[in-house]
Amino acid sequence: MELDDEVCFCFHVTHRKLRNYARINKPKVASLMTECYGAGTGCGWCRPIIVKIWETHGQEKPGEIPTLASMAERKAAREQYWLDKFGKKPADGGEKKDA
Ligand code: FES
Repeated sequence: MELDDEVCFCFHVTHRKLRNYARINKPKVASLMTECYGAGTGCGWCRPIIVKIWETHGQEKPGEIPTLASMAERKAAREQYWLDKFGKKPADGGEKKDA
């Protein structure tokens, strides 16, 4: 996963933002990673990845970030997550919105 890849599609939070948040703030529990631009507080699809980032960069004993190879694969996995959990595709489609 590249540093500029989005991890949380709901709030458009990148791997870099989450990694830096974990490194700098060392949150005591993984749920505090949501303080990084609200990551993980939407549909919840990205939470397992955020936990891995926290384990890898926010802890003394590093974990391993899962390898969903490409942005297209992650978007497809999230779409399937939405279909399984909510019975519909995400409305935003995981695309960035212009400001
Ligand atoms: S993709 Fe992160 S909360 Fe939906």
